[in-house]
Amino acid sequence: MRYHIWTVGCQMNQADSQKLAAGLDRLGWAEVGEPDEADLVVLNTCAIRDHAEQRAIGKLGALKKLRGRGAGFKIAVMGCMVGPKTEELERRFPFVDAFARPQQFAPIMEAIGHDDLGGEFWPETFTAPDSVTAYVPIVHGCDKFCAYCIVPYRRGRERSRTIADVRSEVEHLAARGVREVTLLGQTVEAYGHDLAEQPDLGDLLRELHELDGIARFRFLTSYPKDMTPRIIDAVAELPKVCEYFNIPVQSGDDAVLERMRRGYDIALYREKVALIRDRMPDAAITTDIIVGFCGETDAEFQHTLDLVEEVQFDKVHVAAYSPRPGTIAYRKLADDVPQETKLARLHAIEQAEAVISGRINGRLLGKDVEVLVEGLKPGPDGEPASFGRTRGNKLVHVPGEAHAGDLVAVRIERASPWSLGGTPAAAVAV
Ligand code: 5AD
Ligand code: SF4
Repeated sequence: MRYHIWTVGCQMNQADSQKLAAGLDRLGWAEVGEPDEADLVVLNTCAIRDHAEQRAIGKLGALKKLRGRGAGFKIAVMGCMVGPKTEELERRFPFVDAFARPQQFAPIMEAIGHDDLGGEFWPETFTAPDSVTAYVPIVHGCDKFCAYCIVPYRRGRERSRTIADVRSEVEHLAARGVREVTLLGQTVEAYGHDLAEQPDLGDLLRELHELDGIARFRFLTSYPKDMTPRIIDAVAELPKVCEYFNIPVQSGDDAVLERMRRGYDIALYREKVALIRDRMPDAAITTDIIVGFCGETDAEFQHTLDLVEEVQFDKVHVAAYSPRPGTIAYRKLADDVPQETKLARLHAIEQAEAVISGRINGRLLGKDVEVLVEGLKPGPDGEPASFGRTRGNKLVHVPGEAHAGDLVAVRIERASPWSLGGTPAAAVAV
């Protein structure tokens, strides 16, 4: 039997798709590249913005044509488009055989006539890595209920995996050639508060650090209020943990943050950035920003632009506010910023950020940086070249065929806001 999985959305969705694939592999199924070669097609969907949902709906429209292949062919929809109630989805998409909430794979197993593989998140089912880098979810769900966000309604409350569970997954990956592991959580510093021993992310990092084979660890995504000096100390002290932080600020204005119900103000955000830079002056800090949130004035937006200049982020993921039915903002606040204004603000942030990342990357010219080679990507004229990432997660192109999984020192010779290029200087021993 053959399956095809189509995935959009965040890193957690990618990890969920890999977990489902691992489960289907265990049953002896084979993955295929095209839906029309498959006996089971799964769409792993995202609902963070309307645009993401529309992509999945478009894809579903295309799949409907395959329905004629008979009852043996199954279509499943999983991920953040699926909430606790599926009646409306069933009515809109009657040709779909199974709807599965994020990480709740049982309905898909049922549709293909199998029992569930057991336990929440299938702790005994390990992903077969297809790269030297891998994602490992450590805390599922989100308890924060930011006013604009659909995630807590779709992924449920925060639940941490035990250290032993995470450790055995990382050991499995290390034994199969994985060199870099990114630990995932919607608010990753929430890790452990619901476990009996109450370990924190720092404790987990210290324990995983001992494992052989893995050269680097990262973690995503940080929630400013949950980031503690203890966690920052662990990152600073552990050589394998990259000095890389993705800390969404969402807005640079206190009144907007309050309307968003983010639970912190800019003073607290600045404090956390200072704590990190005090311990790790070269740390890469990236952020997420929403422009055009309900009632956002020109002056409030200007505060966001000012913060981008002040903090000098290595990268900014910026999005225009998209109202999500069921969220607090959808119910209580008017989506009153015109679309043109949202787009103008989005472009203003992107332009400011391109100048800043160009400047930050430019400072690396002439320096030797540690790169983990991830794979081969021939240059524009077909000449052999490889690519990898720095500890700060910046993409680096290197001429020649380096071996995936090697850590090399690269002397940086070219820099743009989006990537770096250079020549291998020497192998780095780790
Ligand atoms: N509209 C626009 N962007 C959103 N995000 C979350 N919800 C929305 C929404 N309703 C953004 C936030 C978050 C990132 C994953 O997506 O910036 O950090
Ligand atoms: Fe959404 Fe806020 Fe939770 Fe992030 S912290 S997933 S933005 S509710």
